[in-house]
Amino acid sequence: MSQRIELNRRTFLRTAGMTALAGAVSTNASIASAAPSATAEPSDGVYDFDEIYDRTGTHCTKWDAQIKKYGKENIEVAMGIADMDFRVAPCVTRALQARCSHENWGYGIPADSYKEAIVAWNKNRHGVEVDPDSIHLAAGVHPALIAALRAFAPPGSKVLMTTPIYSGFYSDLRETLTVTADSLGTLENGRYSIDWDNLQSQMDIDTNALILCNPQNPTGNVWSEEDLLRLGRLCLERRVVVLADEIHCDFVTKGNKYVPFASLPDKDVVNNSISFKAVSKTFSLAAMKSAYFFSTNQDFLDRVNVHHRPDLNTLGIVANEAAYREGADWLDQLLPYLDANHDFVEAYAKEKMPLVDYTKAQGTYLAWLDVSKLADKIDAKGKADAANKTSETRVTPEGIVQRWLVDNAHVYTNTGSSYGAGGEGHMRMNLATPRKLIELAMDNMAAAMDKL
Ligand SMILES: Cc1ncc(COP(=O)(O)O)c(C=O)c1O
Repeated sequence: MSQRIELNRRTFLRTAGMTALAGAVSTNASIASAAPSATAEPSDGVYDFDEIYDRTGTHCTKWDAQIKKYGKENIEVAMGIADMDFRVAPCVTRALQARCSHENWGYGIPADSYKEAIVAWNKNRHGVEVDPDSIHLAAGVHPALIAALRAFAPPGSKVLMTTPIYSGFYSDLRETLTVTADSLGTLENGRYSIDWDNLQSQMDIDTNALILCNPQNPTGNVWSEEDLLRLGRLCLERRVVVLADEIHCDFVTKGNKYVPFASLPDKDVVNNSISFKAVSKTFSLAAMKSAYFFSTNQDFLDRVNVHHRPDLNTLGIVANEAAYREGADWLDQLLPYLDANHDFVEAYAKEKMPLVDYTKAQGTYLAWLDVSKLADKIDAKGKADAANKTSETRVTPEGIVQRWLVDNAHVYTNTGSSYGAGGEGHMRMNLATPRKLIELAMDNMAAAMDKL
């Protein structure tokens, strides 16, 4: 470990008041005994997103999975996976504690009030009217999306996506035996736009569905009404159903606006779509396994529901409803914090990281870093080619960069190559974490790169 990294780590731990950032994975019993008994309800109504809330030892993917893979000495800052390091909104913990005080966990039905909360959130925050009867619940976006793919895209048919796009969609396509049709966006000044000619050329007889991601993970695009209408009309014309994944919709950075597909001013376009959403990103409730989808097209919903089994989790519903009903203030305070995290990374990369470029995202809490100069400098392609002569699984240059950052900066990021066409030369970094941790990650990476 370099002197600079060691110094950073010591300074950081002192500031954070932590004894160990990267602890060993504990048992559920030790997690429970270590858990704070009260919720973090601020007396002055101001949430402290700077608090370093140690998640290690809770079997979380973000930290513990990387520590398990690379060793705790190699993971100082885990910056992958799309969930947040903050304490959850106190209203969620309160609702869960209240439900837990009733000691029976038999089969349940979702309360009507949950759908009412979904309708109110979508109307109040995004101006879209959703008919409660058109809302269907799911144990996550993936099961719902898989059911929709089964309904509209038979095995062997193509599913269109503008890329780079969320890696999880590729596993949904594998699951449904459908074929990926990537339409690579045009990249200019760090910002992607849809390559309309390419997109149109791929809408052939074998293409029945398009997955839209708005805001787009990992590129951070927030699609304009004009783009969405153009895309929607093209899909309608070519009989391609739009599966609109808008799970990141509550995260847009300053000056940007999320336009729900369901709010577009063309009824036929809207009727050719299904929207997929969840509380899981907005309030970091991913482990609660709860999502929902809706459409104005009853025939579409009927077709999806033939393949959909809505397994639900009582605590998930309780947590989700509480967040939508009472969590707006927590989220309103969080959004400027995340915006400033994006600004911080953009400025830092510009000033101190000549080998990394970052253009502030329009939405999501993810930073899509252009690391192509770093990849060249460490000959990531040459190393990947050499590794592939013996490796059973394909090694990508981004995999080499990922490992290099773990080994040299003790920072974990996601490989760009897992996000489809156009992911080369990029890494995805999660910024939903206290700024001190981002600073530590950036300092570590800068120090490692300075040595090249
Ligand atoms: C675009 C997108 N869709 C779906 C998901 C899966 O969400 P969940 O499993 O919480 O429903 C994610 C998670 O990262 C995502 O980024």
